[in-house]
Amino acid sequence: MAAITMTNIVKRYGDGFPAVNDVSLAVQDGEFMILVGPSGCGKSTLLRMIVGLEDITAGEMRIGDRLVNTVAPRQRNLSMVFQNYALYPHLTVFENIAFPLRLAKVPGDEVDRRVRQTAELLELTEHLDRKPANLSGGQRQRVAMGRAIVRDADAFLFDEPLSNLDAKLRGQMRTEISRLQRRLGVTTVYVTHDQTEAMTLGDRVAVLRKGELQQVGSPRELYEQPANLFVAGFIGSPSMNFLPATLEGADLRTPLGDLRLDDRRKVDAVGERSVVLVGVRPEHFEDASLVSEEKRARGAVLRARVDVTEWLGNELYAYVPYEAPPDLATRLRDLSQELDSDQLRTQAVVALDPSSRVHAGQDVELWVNTARLHLFDPSTGENLTRDEEEVAALAEQADAAREAQRAAQRTATQEVPPVEPD
Ligand SMILES: Nc1ncnc2c1ncn2[C@@H]1O[C@H](COP(=O)(O)OP(=O)(O)OP(=O)(O)O)[C@@H](O)[C@H]1O
Ligand SMILES: [Mg+2]
Repeated sequence: MAAITMTNIVKRYGDGFPAVNDVSLAVQDGEFMILVGPSGCGKSTLLRMIVGLEDITAGEMRIGDRLVNTVAPRQRNLSMVFQNYALYPHLTVFENIAFPLRLAKVPGDEVDRRVRQTAELLELTEHLDRKPANLSGGQRQRVAMGRAIVRDADAFLFDEPLSNLDAKLRGQMRTEISRLQRRLGVTTVYVTHDQTEAMTLGDRVAVLRKGELQQVGSPRELYEQPANLFVAGFIGSPSMNFLPATLEGADLRTPLGDLRLDDRRKVDAVGERSVVLVGVRPEHFEDASLVSEEKRARGAVLRARVDVTEWLGNELYAYVPYEAPPDLATRLRDLSQELDSDQLRTQAVVALDPSSRVHAGQDVELWVNTARLHLFDPSTGENLTRDEEEVAALAEQADAAREAQRAAQRTATQEVPPVEPD
């Protein structure tokens, strides 16, 4: 096992385009790190540089203490599972898993022991004699994982390993990968553009945009204290809403009405800016008619016309269009395109209690939890209201939770035979 430390990593392909631009990222020993970002942001390129399948243009890549920039992939002792993993159709499950050990000329009885141990872990024991063609999609995926973990690798690297599975299987495999990683405690870097995978699998998530690292933190930190407009819009589904606003006194004037800021810090954060973008997550809106007087006083109430509603049983989404100044409307449209969002118009999405009777075409009162909103600079995208104390507290909580989880795992695995070969 080993830490992976990237310092000022740059990758330029032939045409000089920086696919990865000055990325510094330290993956701790045993940590599960997620790389996430829209298509083309450089996730696979970065992963391939870790494994050694791609030359590093500039910067330093270390595995443990060793500088590996020029070390051949074979000598890095890492294990990778690709998006389009290929199993050997003419080999049995056993031989597919054993493949890397055979390549490394590991003695036969040792191969047998390790393959059986791995198969046990992945619940493939009864399928060892089958050919891949006779397995389900999920079982094939597990064989591919088996091939990766059968080696005593220092780290696992996954490039969207679940993207070609259907939604249900993806969910199952997600939990399995999570359990497996925690049980083995092996340093893991996992690339995905799936929201749910990013939020649920990792200890920490690194968000990339156009080759540049935007923010690294626990899922909770990214969600509650995003560094900028991009991270705020990318993490969370449906996305955070961004309403243009001007500040007058302590009131943010938005196209949907005024939001009174009780927090002096937020008022001050606006500074001399004539316009800011107010970020409100869909769930921080409520149907004002269902909110108590006391709670109502702790937030602000906006009046708006609902365009479309979607009732999902456990939640009700209402879409509320608004007018934005043309330059900001363009900025918001560009952002939503970059985020691969289908939300092309300037409209707010609000998630209401399913018992709400709000319907399309209706003028409604929406309560906004103003304590949870963030303010962004429209030109730089910077989050003006990020709370550094809160960020530090969240990081501490995440570390403590991770430690506790690993300790519980260690206790639990003491009762079963050791998984690590030798
Ligand atoms: N061999 C190559 N030559 C030139 N440009 C490349 C090469 N491989 C990738 N790129 C470019 O580098 C950028 C990053 O590509 P990369 O494959 O790392 O993206 P990604 O984040 O993994 O995207 P996806 O989610 O679509 O897999 C893209 O703009 C891509 O077009
Ligand atoms: Mg990719």
